[in-house]
Amino acid sequence: MLNPFDIVIFGGGGDLSIRKLLPAMYRAYQEGNLPEGSRIVPTVRELANKEEFIEKVNQGLQEHLGQGEYNQQDWKTFSQFIEPLAINVTQVDDGWKALKALLESDAPDKSRVFYLSLPPAVYGSCSEVLAQMNLITPTSRVVVEKPIGYCGESAEVINAKVAEYFDEQQIFRIDHYLGKETVQNLMALRFSNVIFENLWDAKTIDNIQISISETVGLETRAGFYDKAGALRDMVQNHLLQLLCLVAMESPNKLSANSIRTEKLKVLESLRPLVNEDVDENVIRGQYVPGELDGTVVPGYLEELGSASHTETFVAIRANIDNWRWSGVPFYLRTGKRMKKRCAEIIVEYKPVSHNVYQKNVGNIEPNRLIIRLQPEESIQLTLMSKRLDSLDMQLEPVTLNLDLSKDSANTFHSDAYKRLMLDAAANNPALFIHRNEVKQAWAWIDPIIEKWEKEGTPSLYRAGTWGPESADELLAQKGHKWFNVGE
Ligand code: BG6
Repeated sequence: MLNPFDIVIFGGGGDLSIRKLLPAMYRAYQEGNLPEGSRIVPTVRELANKEEFIEKVNQGLQEHLGQGEYNQQDWKTFSQFIEPLAINVTQVDDGWKALKALLESDAPDKSRVFYLSLPPAVYGSCSEVLAQMNLITPTSRVVVEKPIGYCGESAEVINAKVAEYFDEQQIFRIDHYLGKETVQNLMALRFSNVIFENLWDAKTIDNIQISISETVGLETRAGFYDKAGALRDMVQNHLLQLLCLVAMESPNKLSANSIRTEKLKVLESLRPLVNEDVDENVIRGQYVPGELDGTVVPGYLEELGSASHTETFVAIRANIDNWRWSGVPFYLRTGKRMKKRCAEIIVEYKPVSHNVYQKNVGNIEPNRLIIRLQPEESIQLTLMSKRLDSLDMQLEPVTLNLDLSKDSANTFHSDAYKRLMLDAAANNPALFIHRNEVKQAWAWIDPIIEKWEKEGTPSLYRAGTWGPESADELLAQKGHKWFNVGE
């Protein structure tokens, strides 16, 4: 059980806080993981009265928690943990003094988590005020959100500024994909089952696909998204982190250092994509009006209300130049307003070396390991098997299915933010990202951005589809095909 902790959420009235962070803390409370004596301090720019803000949190929980999770009784007790404060995050004001008085009213060695749910440009100045106010104790941690910066250089500036006030081991760079249950299970699966680890290299694996498709469009984030685009928003962090976990060598132990060392080696082995490599291996797309689940939806430009070359879709053929993966393409794909919401890792095996069944069944489907992170969390293995009713040895594909959402205890609600916020409170950085990983990931992304800034425009795709046709061609060039859920 954790010791009591204080978590200060700067930007506590913002979208992320209301939709994800506060519901995550509520779930932690319901599961008995929010120790008595802990305090949650959302800070906002202006606070007319505390009750009004607490009611906003209450409404947010009812809207964003799953069915059956919210109840009045739990809310009543949970709400007593919340102590909202009005603060100007970049300048000392009375709010900061109130925060200091609040934090210092408890033991000096109590864990403090400062969650910066703020634009990355102010991470440095907020950390500076924390230091000025003498609030950074040896048991304090700072959590920062991705994407850090808009390129390698700007990320380094932000990281260096935060590092003036916090030691690297106090800086928790969050990527919520690493908190998803199935992502952690991916490591368990790989490193504790001999059958997978011995079949996890270029000798048996044909290609690997990592795909995060979303049905939502721009939502209310035009200001951020149009500057960022899918490459910075999703590929630089979530997709590359998933790639690292799939491709890395076994860490010596489960410590943050061992895991990060192995992930960094993967990032360093990514074959750079420069100049014409970008044209050959990267597809950028933008959605135009289309139909999703029977409803007509506007295109990106209509939602944005202005002209833009920002990509809402990216597909990449990546290569990892090391012994294990030489010659195996890693296909990365993500997009908004796609046909289905799904996040999956597909490991496609090579065909059998000699097919003795060919006459009866035509092609044998390759084995596939399908690790699904959402909408439901599951791990499936597709195999070929004899059809029960066939006398002449006809084969059919069958699936071994491990449904993680059904199989875990039903009181447990898998929530990536909850897991990671509790890890930060417990000082466990294993699922957070090291500064060197951020740097290396940008080093791979930067040349793609540079090329796009110089020339070209996104390929268009209709909302409600799997992206531009050129993304299918990217795989077809090597005889591959996207494995699209439900098709
Ligand atoms: C965020 C991106 O990091 O991840 C969003 O900024 C995206 O654009 C979101 O929608 C997707 O997260 P999830 O967990 O819903 O797949």
